[in-house]
Amino acid sequence: MKSVLRIEDLKVYYKTEKGLVRAVDGVSIDLCERESLGIVGESGCGKTTMGYALLRILPSNAVLEGSIKLNGLDLSSLDQKQMEKVRGAKISMIFQDPMTSLNPVMKVRDHFIETIQTHKPEISEEEAERMTANMLRAVGIEPTRMNEYPFQFSGGMRQRVMIALSLVLNPVVVIADEPTTSLDVIVQAQILDLLKSLREKFNMSLILITHDLGVVAELADRVGVMYAGHLVEIGESRDIYYSPKHPYTEALLKSIPNTNIEDKELVYIPGGPPDLADPPKGCRFEPRCPKAMPICSRKEPGVYQVGRSFVKCWLYGEESHVSASKGQ
Ligand SMILES: Nc1ncnc2c1ncn2[C@@H]1O[C@H](COP(=O)(O)OP(=O)(O)OP(=O)(O)O)[C@@H](O)[C@H]1O
Ligand SMILES: [Mg+2]
Repeated sequence: MKSVLRIEDLKVYYKTEKGLVRAVDGVSIDLCERESLGIVGESGCGKTTMGYALLRILPSNAVLEGSIKLNGLDLSSLDQKQMEKVRGAKISMIFQDPMTSLNPVMKVRDHFIETIQTHKPEISEEEAERMTANMLRAVGIEPTRMNEYPFQFSGGMRQRVMIALSLVLNPVVVIADEPTTSLDVIVQAQILDLLKSLREKFNMSLILITHDLGVVAELADRVGVMYAGHLVEIGESRDIYYSPKHPYTEALLKSIPNTNIEDKELVYIPGGPPDLADPPKGCRFEPRCPKAMPICSRKEPGVYQVGRSFVKCWLYGEESHVSASKGQ
């Protein structure tokens, strides 16, 4: 399958009083055409930071390194003016709280007209209105409601408006950051179903950020697991779900209720994630890892292919085999 988004050795460091916070630290991902990729991991592991980096909407204390190529165009080297042309049109984002992107005192219709005409000034207002009506219909909203204000919509409906707005210019890649967290369970399921059908209808690639491994396993073709700024495992959803390779992925799976995995006992991962201003020098999961070996605290593991998955863990590295055989 053709790759549309190639993220290579992406790093985002925040400058803080404590020093540099290494929120994303060397992440590489290839996203394919029409693929849906879930990104999971505990709070603070760098998921949103990665999403912001892809859209180049990082705060001013952030330093970005590495490359982000969208159909060959290196987004990391664009200035903000060039990036404005790409953002919303070729790559867009759905946020957890739609009100962060919707202006409460601006009619829904005007949000759409503004977005469309900013990117495509040649489109007339009538045509933009037609596009808006079609898009609202696609997300299950009566087009006449475009004349209402965002605050007149319920939370779930507002998220539908936000989804419609982020898709109206038919972007290649859409990033959804915890799009359902603030909604009740039934509405959550409806929104996820909607995202799934829209991805197929509009041929887009989707990056779905969430801390809920159960959600992504159902919706995503592949899942990437982040831990403390590192991508520790990436593979096909069913492999991640039924045959996790990284001890962190295993632990994460055991910590979600109602999974199909055999061991139904809920296990919480002991300890907490490391301080990203002073992360462990070897594997960042080592202090909490039940399978840690001496090398894990000394040296950062590489990424190894295990079956169809890619895993950043010494359990699968050559040096670990050497030290394991020496120990026998
Ligand atoms: N503007 C900022 N300045 C300094 N540090 C920041 C800033 N924004 C985020 N961080 C830090 O970067 C790290 C990653 O944060 P991020 O919000 O990307 O995590 P996340 O995986 O999205 O978490 P959550 O699941 O809670 O949304 C955290 O340690 C966070 O405290
Ligand atoms: Mg986040």
